[in-house]
Amino acid sequence: MLPTDPTWYKNAIFYEVYVRAFKDSNGDGHGDIHGLVEKLDYLKELGVDCLWLLPIYPSPLKDDGYDISDYCSIHPDYGSLEDFKRLLEETHRRGMRLITDLVMNHTSDAHPWFQAARSDRHSPYRDYYVWSNDDRQYSQARIIFLDTEKSNWTWDPLAGQYFWHRFYACQPDLNFDAPAVQAEMLRVVDFWLGFGVDGFRVDAVPYLFEREGTNCENLPETHAYLKTLRRFVEEKYPGRLLLCEANQWPQDVRAYFGEDDEFNMAFHFPLMPRVFMALKQGDRTPITWALEQTPPIPENCQWATFLRNHDELTLEMVSPEERQWMWAQYSPEMRMRLNLGIRRRLAPLLDNDRRKIELAYSLIFSLPGAPFLYYGDEIGMGDNIHLPDRNGVRTPMQWEDAPGAGFTSASVPYIPVIQADPYSAGSVNVAGQKADPASLWHSLRAMIALRKRYPALRSGELTWIPCPHPAVAAYLRRSNADQVAVIQNLSVKPVPVELPFENSSAELTDLITGHVVPVQNGRLKITLRPYEYLWLV
Ligand code: GLC
Repeated sequence: MLPTDPTWYKNAIFYEVYVRAFKDSNGDGHGDIHGLVEKLDYLKELGVDCLWLLPIYPSPLKDDGYDISDYCSIHPDYGSLEDFKRLLEETHRRGMRLITDLVMNHTSDAHPWFQAARSDRHSPYRDYYVWSNDDRQYSQARIIFLDTEKSNWTWDPLAGQYFWHRFYACQPDLNFDAPAVQAEMLRVVDFWLGFGVDGFRVDAVPYLFEREGTNCENLPETHAYLKTLRRFVEEKYPGRLLLCEANQWPQDVRAYFGEDDEFNMAFHFPLMPRVFMALKQGDRTPITWALEQTPPIPENCQWATFLRNHDELTLEMVSPEERQWMWAQYSPEMRMRLNLGIRRRLAPLLDNDRRKIELAYSLIFSLPGAPFLYYGDEIGMGDNIHLPDRNGVRTPMQWEDAPGAGFTSASVPYIPVIQADPYSAGSVNVAGQKADPASLWHSLRAMIALRKRYPALRSGELTWIPCPHPAVAAYLRRSNADQVAVIQNLSVKPVPVELPFENSSAELTDLITGHVVPVQNGRLKITLRPYEYLWLV
């Protein structure tokens, strides 16, 4: 049933699932694995090829599961290993794949390794973590969770020492200088790949090692270990995916592909905020700039592109001036901000304007890279900025206009369903949008289907079509088999354009609307409506 191409990920459509938010099958108010199984047909119908699951392991949930207390088991809220096996079988039976989150950098402080380490200096687990008698080492390492953490060191009275953590203080960093830690992580990888998962989204990759006098990111030791990891996967489980979360500049991320001997894929963090910049400025320059900064990657590797995910819209990969501008434009209220980012969903960021939302998707689905959708963004779900941390973008999936949004039969879900219009479950839900052929869901599904039908859109070479007007993002994607011209107006104003189309025949058809656009004397003359996008063949 599964396509056998070992580089399947290059052309896949990914969908990020927060299991707790997706579908509650047993009425306890928490989404679970059985619930997700019920919804696999929905994902298939949308055109999803691979699911990425946020952490599903036992955890005290102080960072929503990114604080793992047992790597090789399932959180009881979600189900059992047996249930997970069934999820994998059902996913594969439908020709889809599934990757899980692998959090290598740190554990929860509730993990038995940490508990053993802190209670006994002579425990074999002491060396699993990074300890110090003072809090002065590695002072050049930045603090990532700026709004809550004052230091990367926290004093542990039981241990009688400080321990190192790049994220919350409840997430002590593992010590990758310890051979035992390196081996443990390979065991974890072996366990899940042996179980049948199709790969991992590897969390917080740049921070595995610490070295004095550096910022403790992207160190050579980290790359060396990642090569070991890749070799292990490649030898025992060829065709599985390693996807890198490194929120870094393109040249630093480039190193995580190596010579196709580290990661198969990596998120493109610098491109993401620039899609929002370009849309607000009505100017393609931020996008062309990000792509110009993007170095070529090995043939079998691929960028993972996205508009939003489960975290804040991170502004780490923009200049300080651009960050201030983005904050001012996209998060006028202070509580919309978090750390160096903006905790809002796609639709509210884009003023719930269908034209802008579709245009943003048009960019992501027609530029190079494999696109990632964040659950709920396919119907334009809203957020709840009154919830703490990033919970506001992790609210229950809105399946129908019903109490509990068709997500749960419980009267009190894990966090409230969005109540306020225009984003309430009554206004925004899957059932309503599936029944309405003019909905966002249908537009997106059509785009996904087109991307699958036209190889040029997935893997074609990209050439920019010269256009003097800065609001126009026009490019050609060309493969051996076909070519598609994508023409987009990023501005709120109508824009007349005249583009060279030397080799094309007399007329072009817009794949989105079916409209025919004439080309005369090798030139395409058209006035683009505000935020209009055309995919022409
Ligand atoms: C990654 C995750 C984020 C988590 C952090 C610490 O950045 O995306 O949700 O809080 O790692 O594990």
